[in-house]
Amino acid sequence: TPSAEVLERLRAAKALATDALLIAHNYQPPWVQDLADVTGDSLQLSRIAAEHPARRIVFAGVRFMAETAKLLSPTKTVLLPAHDAGCSLAEAITADDLRQWRSAHPDAIVVAYVNTSAEVKALADVCVTSANALEVVASIPTLREVLFLPDVFLGSWVKRTLGRERMHVWHGECHVHAALEPGALETALADDPEAVVYVHPECGCTTSALLVDDPWRQRVRLLSTTQMIEAARAEQHRRVIVATETGVLHQLRRENSISFEPLRADATCPYMQRVTPELLLGALERNEGEVTLDPAVAEAARRPVLAMLDPTV
Ligand code: 13P
Ligand code: SF4
Repeated sequence: TPSAEVLERLRAAKALATDALLIAHNYQPPWVQDLADVTGDSLQLSRIAAEHPARRIVFAGVRFMAETAKLLSPTKTVLLPAHDAGCSLAEAITADDLRQWRSAHPDAIVVAYVNTSAEVKALADVCVTSANALEVVASIPTLREVLFLPDVFLGSWVKRTLGRERMHVWHGECHVHAALEPGALETALADDPEAVVYVHPECGCTTSALLVDDPWRQRVRLLSTTQMIEAARAEQHRRVIVATETGVLHQLRRENSISFEPLRADATCPYMQRVTPELLLGALERNEGEVTLDPAVAEAARRPVLAMLDPTV
């Protein structure tokens, strides 16, 4: 955590940057979440980026999130202070991989998780986030062939939950969530019979979370990060084990008096940690870290994101 003096400097810079909105993902370090005008999951943050009147958006998160904001707000300046913050999941598929797959399956509907590059989105039909993946895939006629990419755990969860047959799932994974594997979930459930477990569907234990025997199944909830924050407000159990990036614990603990413990304390996303006070000051004061996209790619990539936000588009 930065010193009180540095935090004061950041607050002053933010107060001066009246045309800028600082938005932070739920996985950002606690001091960034506290400084931000708004926090949220991928879906909420893309909606805010599209609707908020601010001329500049300072995105405390990773590249695919800032790119999605830019796609939706082409006339705004979108700044990614941690300009080299990628995502291991987004790297699991390239535009060439997808082009190749598409040429072998010309009639398939391609569903791309937002954790993808703009080039990959440009070749997709519709995007999803963990908060709406079930709903979006359910809206596709069951007879259509579907490719879900790139997350194997999230995709398999959607496929199994909806009972879809003609659905291919790409074999990508987020290294942080993949490490939250079935053995850890089973141990946590066995060791603490009073606790419930909130599992992000990108986790390595997602598939087994669906298979665990009753009454264990009753104690597992599959949720996006903001859905976790919402579920906690109505939680009847006194102890919650959280299977996702540990940044989300900050808001869970701040808002509730019950106990929240990580499934693994080392589940931290290295890309989300790249932000520093200097980088934030550079964005707020000097417009550093601007995200630009090739106009043709942006035009094509906007379509599946809009299709996700408004199915009538
Ligand atoms: P959410 O869609 O729940 O915000 O998760 C984003 C992400 O990067 C998951 O690892
Ligand atoms: Fe990507 Fe995983 Fe980090 Fe999310 S937690 S940004 S999916 S590497």
